[in-house]
Amino acid sequence: MDWRIPLADIDFDSREEAAVLEVLKSRWLTMGGVTQVFEQEFASYVGARHAIAVTNGTAALHLACLAAGLGRGDEVIVPSLSFVATANAVRYTGAVPIFVDIESEQDLDISLTSIEQKLTERTRAIMVMHYGGYACDMPAIVTLARAHGIKVIEDAAHAIGSDIDGRKLGVWGDIGCFSFFSNKNMTTGEGGMIVTNDDAAADKMRTIRSHGMTTMSWDRHKGHAWSYDVVELGYNYRIDEIRAALGRVQLSKLEQNNKKRRNLSVLYREQLEELVPSVVVPFNNPRGTSACHLFPILLPMGCDRIGFMEHLKSNGIQTSIHYPPIHKFLTYAEGSDAQLDLRLTETVSSREVTLPLFAALTEENVVDVVRSVQGAVQKLNSK
Ligand SMILES: Cc1ncc(COP(=O)(O)O)c(C=O)c1O
Repeated sequence: MDWRIPLADIDFDSREEAAVLEVLKSRWLTMGGVTQVFEQEFASYVGARHAIAVTNGTAALHLACLAAGLGRGDEVIVPSLSFVATANAVRYTGAVPIFVDIESEQDLDISLTSIEQKLTERTRAIMVMHYGGYACDMPAIVTLARAHGIKVIEDAAHAIGSDIDGRKLGVWGDIGCFSFFSNKNMTTGEGGMIVTNDDAAADKMRTIRSHGMTTMSWDRHKGHAWSYDVVELGYNYRIDEIRAALGRVQLSKLEQNNKKRRNLSVLYREQLEELVPSVVVPFNNPRGTSACHLFPILLPMGCDRIGFMEHLKSNGIQTSIHYPPIHKFLTYAEGSDAQLDLRLTETVSSREVTLPLFAALTEENVVDVVRSVQGAVQKLNSK
């Protein structure tokens, strides 16, 4: 489908092309020197001691769960209003995701009260997800976790460049995970990054990123090693030099592009004002500075969401849903806690629609989308 206004778009130009060409000409394609520089630049950008580039955000979450020591018999508190990878990563380790509710219609992030209610002696970690780039209540969540001796993993896939009081998301908890999937604020096609200040966790994740091997092909190529040992069960979760090169250029554009996203989000809020409160625009008073990855709205109660999305589609505007709740998916619903009471997650999820947002979206586009939103709401309300 050829959308007049797509949901998301990438910002690639001659700089990405030149960076990729340079790697191709170097004839070293697998993880090596470019990746190391990308990791150093990313670590310095978020203010972490370590950054470890991986093949995608899901691999980042999996390695984080393993480094947090999760395994069979452990429970991890996770939001249900997230992409399924958040919970899948927990399950890969044998641990059980314990789903909790969101804070409110305004704050679609994990609820602190809900976390407190689900803590048991088997809880080993809290996995937060900064919805749309809007920060969870990290000061309170980290304090709670410390008091209970449990880890905090941040799924910061949406939050590349978000911060609270100048401290970047991803470095509030023990380990932070980012995705560079092609709809994210910076992209390498597929790709991800893990950040941490914990030296031992970083060592472990670096080792199991590449089969648990003690040296890499790159070390041998550089003449630093002849052989290797395999010290634990690992995976092939490596990134490659082509994607690392893309990542370096994308990182250099991130601040500027996030600023554009923030300005467009402010404009969306102004333009949508007259539809409030029947349409809810979440995160009116966010914590800290958001990377504004998504622009979610909640349709009026009982509004036909598919009809709404079809109306925008007929105007060439792409929309999406973030997210169907994870605890309702077949593979999660089976055998789950019958008492699961995630009322807010379920109502918000049934009313949510994500409007187009990307750095190159124009102000005229925003006005155009909002006009279409108004038309759709009027049409569907009068039915
Ligand atoms: C919230 C969230 N977590 C995890 C992921 C997984 O990242 P990836 O697609 O890079 O594996 C995504 C990606 O879409 C995401 O949006």
